[in-house]
Amino acid sequence: MSDTGSSDSTATSANTMWGGRFAAGPDAIMEAINASISFDQRMVRQDIEGSRAHAAMLAATGILRDSDVEAIREGLLTVLSEIEGGDFAFSTALEDIHMNVEARLTELVGPAAGRLHTARSRNDQVATDFKLWVRDQMKAAITGLEALMRALVAQADAGADWVMPGFTHLQTAQPVTWGHHMLAYVEMFARDRGRFADAYHRMNECPLGAAALAGTSFPIDREMTAKALGFDRPAANSLDAVSDRDFALEFLSAASICAMHLSRFAEELVIWSSAQFRFVSLSDRFSTGSSIMPQKKNPDAAELIRAKIGRIFGANVALMTVMKGLPLAYSKDMQEDKEQVFDAADNLMLALAAMEGMVGDMQARVPELEAAAASGFSTATDLADWLVHSLDMPFRDAHHVTGSLVKLAEDKGCDLPDLSLDDMQSVHGAITDDVFGVLGVHNSVASRTSYGGTAPVRVREQVARWQKLLG
Ligand code: ARG
Repeated sequence: MSDTGSSDSTATSANTMWGGRFAAGPDAIMEAINASISFDQRMVRQDIEGSRAHAAMLAATGILRDSDVEAIREGLLTVLSEIEGGDFAFSTALEDIHMNVEARLTELVGPAAGRLHTARSRNDQVATDFKLWVRDQMKAAITGLEALMRALVAQADAGADWVMPGFTHLQTAQPVTWGHHMLAYVEMFARDRGRFADAYHRMNECPLGAAALAGTSFPIDREMTAKALGFDRPAANSLDAVSDRDFALEFLSAASICAMHLSRFAEELVIWSSAQFRFVSLSDRFSTGSSIMPQKKNPDAAELIRAKIGRIFGANVALMTVMKGLPLAYSKDMQEDKEQVFDAADNLMLALAAMEGMVGDMQARVPELEAAAASGFSTATDLADWLVHSLDMPFRDAHHVTGSLVKLAEDKGCDLPDLSLDDMQSVHGAITDDVFGVLGVHNSVASRTSYGGTAPVRVREQVARWQKLLG
């Protein structure tokens, strides 16, 4: 598609689309602030699809002659191929994609083109185009999320029993399995997928035929256009239909939450790939080097994914702010909806694809993960649980005894499994040799078999569930 042509208006003649009551054309500054063609040309396919459906309905209802509608529908396809072929001079004087298309249609098919706008307004036209565009992005987000989820499930499958430290407060808490950690993100991304799917379902009502705001006196068939454009039904209130941008806001809020999840995972990858952690090695395909420090391999893709939430959430706040306080029905403020959504959608899709690529290539360093899992007294809870099971100790007392054992190990500069039985018994005389069975990290994770727990057996069940769900 070609770039926006520079203004071809001389700012002296009135607009041919609406200039009947105007003696003079707009000031150049007015034209600059008013025009949306530089960005809304992205909706050309949706605009032409909507116009073709509208024209077909005008013929079917007898509002327009079949011969005019045939010329219009053919002409619209020509305009589309001209624009998609990059062979089109957009005019800023014609403001937006809707009027650029119609003006070119007039050149191609003559006066019949002037009948296309019967029983519609740019207000229902733009709402319809934008809905169609956003709807496609909801589908694209769902597809991108599913690809990412599959990559995470593959990681979980490979490492269902690899142990790693689980953290709270970013302090070693208890050992968990790699597979369990990967599947935590699968749950998060599945909720994101659900949010896009819900929003898709709710938004799928067609504004076309609401006209400017009040409906129309022409005997239109709104069911017909709704169906032709893949909507579930026509929107039931014409005022709401032209003034609603909830669908864009729902897309941006679902995108914000999804970007927040991506950002959290990206942060973990940045930490995990550092020389201090060495939990994973990220592939060269998603890393960069430093121009001065030869040893560096930087996780730039992860850092950029981490940052994407900024612009995506920014778009959400921006559009929410645009919409608040707007009286019914359409106000030109609403033209400011598109750039925010375009930018957020582009960056969300890019972030999802980059994360999928990184996860697919990522290599867990299994020995380092296991060594880290075993350090930091990570099996202290297992020890306390053993005191409860084996010595019938109340959990609070067991917690206290275990605390003393941790202190002892810390003073000796060792980990819990390195204490001798004598050391243990110096804290509590009833402790037996059996205790050493629960201090190993593999035993620890294997014991966490409660539903939703980290035990490899539970992780494998969840992997199987997700493999089935994701196909
Ligand atoms: N370019 C406009 C937009 O994006 C189209 C609708 C114009 N409607 C109007 N009444 N001026 O919102």
